[in-house]
Amino acid sequence: MSAEIRDLTDAEARAALVCKWGEVPDDVLPAWVAEMDYAVAEPIIEAVQRAVAIGMTGYPRPADSPGLGTAYAGWADRRFGHAVDAGRVLATADVTAGVRLALDVAAPSGGLVFPVPGYSPQLAMAEITGRRRHDLVVDPDAERAELDLDQLAHHFENGARVLLLTQPHNPWGRVFTRAELEGVRDVVLRHGGFVVSDEIHAPLVLDGREHVPYLSVEGTADHTVAVVAASKGFNIAGLKCAQLVTGSRRLHTALAEAPMARNDSWSTIGVEASIAAYTHGDAWLDALLVRLAAQRDLLGSLLAEHLPLARMRPVEATYLAWLDLRAYGHDDPAAVALERQRVKLAAGHDYQPGLDGHVRLNFATSPARLTAILERLAAAVTSP
Ligand SMILES: Cc1ncc(COP(=O)(O)O)c(C=O)c1O
Repeated sequence: MSAEIRDLTDAEARAALVCKWGEVPDDVLPAWVAEMDYAVAEPIIEAVQRAVAIGMTGYPRPADSPGLGTAYAGWADRRFGHAVDAGRVLATADVTAGVRLALDVAAPSGGLVFPVPGYSPQLAMAEITGRRRHDLVVDPDAERAELDLDQLAHHFENGARVLLLTQPHNPWGRVFTRAELEGVRDVVLRHGGFVVSDEIHAPLVLDGREHVPYLSVEGTADHTVAVVAASKGFNIAGLKCAQLVTGSRRLHTALAEAPMARNDSWSTIGVEASIAAYTHGDAWLDALLVRLAAQRDLLGSLLAEHLPLARMRPVEATYLAWLDLRAYGHDDPAAVALERQRVKLAAGHDYQPGLDGHVRLNFATSPARLTAILERLAAAVTSP
């Protein structure tokens, strides 16, 4: 079955995406928060409409109810060749809540290693879980963004116990290879560490690359909680359903037996939508990946034409481009772009405090809008 990616009109996007479009004035082009300007996949719309029509608006089933686990296990098998035990999948409200829960009830105490630049709200994750944050910094001048294993080992030797791994990475755009992940595993095992693996972007791997779930790397089951979701790949973050996946009985039990007040907010409709995505979403997702790769390539040409001094890290996954605009001389190019040309990007320093001259640009929109975004960005930053 083939599927089509339908671009939302401005009016549709403004009505549908109440954060990305609704929170900016009408004359601002939004390319900031990670949501896509595309219509939701048909199987998900049908599942949600069916659920609402029969009044499925009460509390959800328990976290370990089999429907969601079976759907995710089927998906992980088809998309990643990863054998997941459906009984070791638990519902949680969203990836943010899942990461917090894993840190609170499954991970050992001790410092938290956080690769930066990193997903901005997670910069606060160490503090709110009572840990010290150890930044694992990628050099902004490095050709390729890589996890520096010596830095990781250094942090583990200096009080860190847990790595918050994001893979594929936002905003690096990297898909880590099995060999890279085995390197991480070796350092973690050597230091008795733990990994919370945020794999929310796993569906969004481009160009036929392979997403390697960290739990599929041998020897990781006893030190890992993976947090996954259909939300980013299918644009359904507002429906509130993510999943915690473990490979060990001990970790599963620690999460499953957490008091309800720690983990109770996933939504009934979100579960239905996630099951639909995992069961019937392949054709739509395949079409999406073709579209996103084309958008990324268009972005590359537009940068070459309008902002030749910009550096874009290769985007191997996600629809978020990390742009180094330091050559244009503005500390905060996102602020300049908003003020001068009414285009809203995410500021680089939100992902790495103190880092100037970078922006994150969301290219999951129409070719025409992406062209306008780039033209406006260039008009804004190319004058002093
Ligand atoms: C790496 C990463 N983790 C987590 C989230 C947030 O996920 P959720 O809305 O499920 O909390 C995002 C959102 O873009 C993200 O990029």
